[in-house]
Amino acid sequence: MSVQRALLAAVALLRVTAQAAGVSGTAFGFATGTTGGGNAAAAAPSDIAQLTEWLTDSIPRVILIDKEFNYLGSEGKCFNCKCCVPDSNTCGSSGQNAIALASSSWCGTYPTTTCTYDKAALEGINVSSHKSIVGVGSAGVIRGRGLRLANGVSNVIIQNIHITDLNPQYIWGGDAITLDGTDQIWIDHVKISLIGRQMFVAGFDSSGRVTISNSEFDGRTSWSASCDGHHYWTILGYGKNDKVTFTGNYIHHTSGRSPRLEFDNYWHVYNNYWFSNTGHAFDVGEGTNALIEGNVFDQVKTPLLTPGKTFAVSSSDMSTCNSMLGRSCSANTLTTSGTLSASDQSVLSSFPSGGSRFNLLDAGRVKSSVLSNAGIGKLRRSRASKKKDRQYAGITPSVPASSAAGSGASPTGPPPQFSWTTIVVKPTPLPSGPPARPQGS
Ligand SMILES: *[C@@H]1O[C@H](CO)[C@@H](O)[C@H](O)[C@H]1NC(C)=O
Repeated sequence: MSVQRALLAAVALLRVTAQAAGVSGTAFGFATGTTGGGNAAAAAPSDIAQLTEWLTDSIPRVILIDKEFNYLGSEGKCFNCKCCVPDSNTCGSSGQNAIALASSSWCGTYPTTTCTYDKAALEGINVSSHKSIVGVGSAGVIRGRGLRLANGVSNVIIQNIHITDLNPQYIWGGDAITLDGTDQIWIDHVKISLIGRQMFVAGFDSSGRVTISNSEFDGRTSWSASCDGHHYWTILGYGKNDKVTFTGNYIHHTSGRSPRLEFDNYWHVYNNYWFSNTGHAFDVGEGTNALIEGNVFDQVKTPLLTPGKTFAVSSSDMSTCNSMLGRSCSANTLTTSGTLSASDQSVLSSFPSGGSRFNLLDAGRVKSSVLSNAGIGKLRRSRASKKKDRQYAGITPSVPASSAAGSGASPTGPPPQFSWTTIVVKPTPLPSGPPARPQGS
């Protein structure tokens, strides 16, 4: 190795070390420019009280989730409280009953019953602006409580964490990630499982510019509203004027709302992998402009329930894309699935171009790419990051080849020799808001 080359490698390693604790990569798609806690020193809270404090205060922060933070029991339980048995529950204890919240009339005339549930999950933690919430390796778990970003919160990154165990037995048991009146939110490499209600919800208030990438929506459950071990309440996009980039995600073992979209917003949905959906994937209501391209639907019973304003790219649409978008598109592919047919060209003529540049994969490469990249603990396996690292460091990492194609299992093998993939090439300053302050008391 020449001196110059060795020096280059050493500098690269130093930078890797310096950035290892923070956010990997940079926000892209509609959430381009999102910097979260920016250059604030990364730190790990010691317990749930400190995590809650750091999430809700007004200081820009890079918060490391380096272990499981367990909120179960933190607000106590509701014992033998009022629930109801909705018509959908035809299978008793393997279905979902619903919590009869005082604030909601959802239960209507359904037969009442009693249930015991954890209180902390009912309301997410109110996250403030300018936060990066970043899991370390595959250790970052928030159990028993979700995250709620609302009322003007902006510039938040949620990366590489697993949110789980929000009263999965019960409808209204809790939502994992809620947006309701936000801007510039990047959700990346997040895993969500065992949730009572929505895995992701954008409420009626505008959520602005959002990117949801490389995340895993794992619908496997023992309490299924569709009585078949699949989760129904998956992704809900209701925000007015929302612009959402949804890409690289793995949505599996669900049975509905994957996603349900409505009310004057734009969703660019590309290069995602749906697997084993016993109900519907897209349910697009009035006002939503959905551009769906280069995705793979594998064993999805109903890829599109209602089309709203939707353009789902098929192989015959290439010239339409070129003439109306000024670029080529990528066709969706479907195997052992229902049909996906929607060609409302008004979507193409009105689609905002703010999504910046993006890499559109041919659908033939989507399944293996998504299975090896989506979810928690996969950051160092990201193909793009590895390539970037190699270019940057000028050396070839000894990472075992991914064996993820087709299996969905995490690749095994010896850990890579170095921490390769957490290079932030160009740290960007906070766009606005309070300046970063030093950490500590
Ligand atoms: C979050 O903020 C809302 C106001 O937007 C408030 O009603 C709610 O109680 C807060 N939730 C928690 C858990 O603090």
